[in-house]
Amino acid sequence: MEKRRSTGETTYRILGIESSCDETAAAVVENGRRILSNVVASQAALHAQYGGVFPEAASRQHLLTFVPVIEQALRDAHVELAEVDAIAVTRGPGLPGSLVVGINVAKGLAMVSGKPLIGVHHLEAHLHSVLLSDAQVQGSEILYPAIGLIVSGGHTELVLISEPLRYQSLGATLDDAAGEAFDKVARLLKLPYPGGPSIQMVSAKGNPEAFSFPRAWLEGTWNFSFSGLKTAVLREVKRLERYGSGMPVEDLAASFQQAVVDVLVGKTLAAAEQFRAKCILIVGGVAANRALREAISLRAPTPVLIPPLYLCTDNAAMIAAAGYFRYRAGQSDGLDMDVLPNWPLAKSLQQF
Ligand code: KG4
Ligand code: ZN
Repeated sequence: MEKRRSTGETTYRILGIESSCDETAAAVVENGRRILSNVVASQAALHAQYGGVFPEAASRQHLLTFVPVIEQALRDAHVELAEVDAIAVTRGPGLPGSLVVGINVAKGLAMVSGKPLIGVHHLEAHLHSVLLSDAQVQGSEILYPAIGLIVSGGHTELVLISEPLRYQSLGATLDDAAGEAFDKVARLLKLPYPGGPSIQMVSAKGNPEAFSFPRAWLEGTWNFSFSGLKTAVLREVKRLERYGSGMPVEDLAASFQQAVVDVLVGKTLAAAEQFRAKCILIVGGVAANRALREAISLRAPTPVLIPPLYLCTDNAAMIAAAGYFRYRAGQSDGLDMDVLPNWPLAKSLQQF
């Protein structure tokens, strides 16, 4: 419930709910920034046996896990459902069956509590993850215009944020998302799922210049492509197998990682320059990558905002944060809200 602090500042608490992929998550966030609780039940171990996310298993696992996850989020935050101001839930994009579970849970809570329901765009939520603070981390302020690079298992998108809540999509991947490329190449190299952390780990012992893998610059566009890179790694693996003198997994992983990082950093910096960005946001699961974090921070002329590792991957604190700003802008959704599995974040710049 809306409260006034001794400082006179009004506080709003939003319960966030996330289930777009393979994390079942709930969180309570105050004023879009202060994390009161953040509970994430990862399904990574369940999907590891399939080498990737198995959608039906994901939906069923969300069904099993949601109630205890939400109860824990409320308990950790020391709030009752009656004390939150709104319920924010991921509406899309994501796996339809997984989104349905989260939305139905959120609807049930909104119905019994009478609180407003806010459908949140998952990528907008990732962008808000840089604002979040808790006892360990201090959130950052976004300076506008900003360039946002969203790099996750399902998305690779470069976004111009001209002012709060206003996004223009500059470009996106034409094929595999960056995280998907990490996951697929990890599988090729027989490394465990999820591939990003596995590749990062073995890359630490590898030479990033051992193999010169292709970089798809796609000049003249802000788009990305990673399928050619993945195929180049596959071709190299097959060649080495024929050769039969052992697989230099560390060097292959490090060289692949370097190729991805070069393109992500190069295009993000070029966009920041062209659109005179005052800051750069790097968000999503792949933003956890150490080589990417180091390269962009080293080369960027503006502040670079990257969330701490546990806020890079899917969580509900970022859903609550984005939901807060939508709530304060007077937006909410009806109890007949449907999922939007392919919801675009913004119109492409060409359409403006
Ligand atoms: O944002 P996220 O948790 O889920 C989606 O919305 O997709 O991102 C998951 C993706 C996976 O593809 C995973 O391999 C990748 O993020 N990832 C990483 C790292 N940690 C997670 N990729 C590269 N380096 C990492 N350290
Ligand atoms: Zn995500």
